[in-house]
Amino acid sequence: MDFDYSIIDTVLKEWGYGASSIIPVLHAVQERYHYIPRAAFPYIAKQVDVGEARVYGVATFYENFSLEAKGRFIIRICDGTACHVRKSTPILEALRTELGLSVQKRTSDDLNFTVETVSCLGACGLAPVLMVNDEVHASMTEEKVHALIGELKTEVATEVVHA
Ligand code: FES
Repeated sequence: MDFDYSIIDTVLKEWGYGASSIIPVLHAVQERYHYIPRAAFPYIAKQVDVGEARVYGVATFYENFSLEAKGRFIIRICDGTACHVRKSTPILEALRTELGLSVQKRTSDDLNFTVETVSCLGACGLAPVLMVNDEVHASMTEEKVHALIGELKTEVATEVVHA
């Protein structure tokens, strides 16, 4: 996929061509790609007239920015205490099995799915919990994982047909 530089241009037009625009630009890029592709760095640096290392430094400083390619659906399974006690581990294993992922391989080759663990999603009363992008799924079970992945795959397939 070619990088879409117009995302950067749009934000810079709104925020100005200065170093203070680096964070909003990185946010916009991440929103579009779910991570910050390499191609963004030299372009942002040139437009705001700072060194590329500085833009890279901002991107690596904030935990919310990712430099690693992520899938269209980012599935975050909670492995905090409440979820762990309510058996989040078999749910994580079921997710990885369904998607052919592992501890080392977190994103599917087709870039549709990323599976990550997080330490607490702040919804312990609904444990075990996972999130698909911004959507919370409460009281998960292995059966529910199977149904959920089926739905997400159908969604991907439908989009491909209509693309
Ligand atoms: S421990 Fe899972 S939401 Fe808090």
